[in-house]
Amino acid sequence: MRGRASLTAIAIVLLLILLGVAYGLMHADISALPRPGRLETSAMTKARDWLIRRAARTVARPPIDDNADAVSKGKALYGMECDSCHGQDGRHPSPIGHSMYPRVPDLGSPPVERLSSQQLFWVVKNGIRLSGMPGFARINSDKENWELVYFVRSLAQPAKP
Ligand code: HEC
Repeated sequence: MRGRASLTAIAIVLLLILLGVAYGLMHADISALPRPGRLETSAMTKARDWLIRRAARTVARPPIDDNADAVSKGKALYGMECDSCHGQDGRHPSPIGHSMYPRVPDLGSPPVERLSSQQLFWVVKNGIRLSGMPGFARINSDKENWELVYFVRSLAQPAKP
C-alpha cells in the first residue's frame, strides 16, 4: 500500500516536471535580440566562471619577458581578429557585439580584468561554448595568444592623455 502511494507521488512529480519543461519550451525565445535577463545572466556567469577556473588550472605561466613589446604585438593582432565584435578599442563593443547573446563585454571592465592571465589565455585559446566567443587555438600560436592577453590586460589602465 505504501509502495503504491510513493509510486503515485513519483508519477505526479514527474508529470509536473514534464509540464514545466513543456511550458518552458512553449514560451522560450530563441531570438538573440532581447537583453539576457538578470537571473539567467547571474546563473550562467557563475557557471561559466567556475568552468573557466577549472579548465585554466593546467595553463602554464606566460613565456613572455618584454611586456611592452607583447602589448604592441597583441594590439596589432587584436585589430585583425577581435575588433569586429569587441570594438576598435576593446572597451566599446561593435554593433555586432551589442547584438550577440550573451552581449560582448568591455574588455577593460572589472569582470574581465578579474580573470587571471592564465584564465584569459584559456578563454582566448579555447573560446566559450554557447556564446559567440571563438577559440583561437587553430589561428594563433600560444605566443600570439599570450600577446593578446597582455593587450587585454593593458586595457584596464586609465586612458593616456
Ligand atoms: C564573433 C565575435 C567575437 C570575436 C571575433 C571575439 N570575441 Fe571575445 N567574446 C565574444 C563574446 C560573445 C563574449 C562573451 C562571452 C560570455 O559572456 O560568456 C566574449 C568574451 C571575451 C572575453 C571575456 C571572457 C570572460 O570570461 O569574461 C575575452 C577576454 C575575450 N572575449 C577576448 C577576445 C579576444 C582577445 C579576441 C580576439 C583574438 C576575441 N575575444 C574575439 C565574442 C567575440
